[in-house]
Amino acid sequence: MKRFLLTELPIKNKTIFLRVDFNVPFYENKITDNTKIKASLPTIKYLLQNDCKIVLATHFGRPKGFSKEFSVAPLAKELQRLLPSKKVLRLDDCIGKKVIETIKNGKPQTIFMLENLRFYPEEEKNDSFFAHSLASQADVYVNDAFGVAHRKHASVCAITEFLPSAPGLLLETEIRSLSQALNPERPSVWIMGGAKLDKIALLEKALQKYDQVLIGGALAFAFLKAKGIPVGASKTDAASTEVARNILKSKYSHKIVLPVDFAVAEFFSPRAKVSIVDYNHIESHQVGLDLGPKTVNLFRKYLSSAKTVVWNGPLGYIEWTKFAVSTKEIGRFLGKLEHAVTIAGGGETAEALIKYHLHHNLTHVSTGGGAALEFLAGKELPALECLEKNYKKFRKRIIP
Ligand code: 3PG
Repeated sequence: MKRFLLTELPIKNKTIFLRVDFNVPFYENKITDNTKIKASLPTIKYLLQNDCKIVLATHFGRPKGFSKEFSVAPLAKELQRLLPSKKVLRLDDCIGKKVIETIKNGKPQTIFMLENLRFYPEEEKNDSFFAHSLASQADVYVNDAFGVAHRKHASVCAITEFLPSAPGLLLETEIRSLSQALNPERPSVWIMGGAKLDKIALLEKALQKYDQVLIGGALAFAFLKAKGIPVGASKTDAASTEVARNILKSKYSHKIVLPVDFAVAEFFSPRAKVSIVDYNHIESHQVGLDLGPKTVNLFRKYLSSAKTVVWNGPLGYIEWTKFAVSTKEIGRFLGKLEHAVTIAGGGETAEALIKYHLHHNLTHVSTGGGAALEFLAGKELPALECLEKNYKKFRKRIIP
């Protein structure tokens, strides 16, 4: 299915509605990670080079109506810091007469940052009237918000009914990189961590398409429990254990690689005494919080010959640095694989890699949480479907 390329649309001197995902982690009034903002800079710069006015729109958090707490003000400030020679003008609303007037009277190469789209419930309802109000501020729509590509929201979908629309450079990169994960070159290895086996579609895709699936995180305990091996006080849940049991009975069971040892704490605390034990020697009071060194070596063995690696979910309880050892070791090891395409997806994985400065080690770290997981599970993303419909609708007007 076809979509417009950004380079195919007439953007010179035009006003562009640019949907981004600046939904960054925010703690005690501070942006703790600006990766998502930086990721859209190439698209923003490209538009500015073309003398566009940019109407920049994002959601921020999950507000219930208008609230100062969820204002985009700190995001606009951060963007201005990253683009010191450009003008970033934050507006008080995202629709309305005043907004339209300000944009109309503004100069080319100005970035008009709209207030949080989610202040209006119509955004999440994919409301056509709301989308039309957004669209009436611009000539062209560009979607660079991969993080919400799985959301059928007004600024992602309905807006494409009204304006010629194209993906931004980040969205294109995400799709190209994650598509490589869906068509892996062999040998291929999927590292699956995190806490829960609630991503069944994703796990099924991994097992169908990949040669090995290495299991880490609390997920590993669901598999051990399903095999009847005691896991002590480690985190498990009944639903995940049931899924693990079914996988172990399936034709794919030979692809699953389980940990052979763990770092366990005497109780759930960063101050608790830690020891390394084999997978079948976890005592009833002990909590498994990271993979052990033998497992890291085992995983390295599988990874060393891989041509494609996908990683989703941290391997230990990375909130406490002393249990981030295996995540860091594997992150470093992936950087040494010269001939492999290495792709990480899912919010927590990206957070872990960024926190430990390992993201540059990988070929691609997705900016999408849920969107990346859905794409990797082989689901259609509404954002892309809408861009494809838009191509059909506008192609005769744009491409003579
Ligand atoms: C994200 O942070 O994963 C995206 O910005 C989507 O946010 P949402 O889950 O609130 O839609």
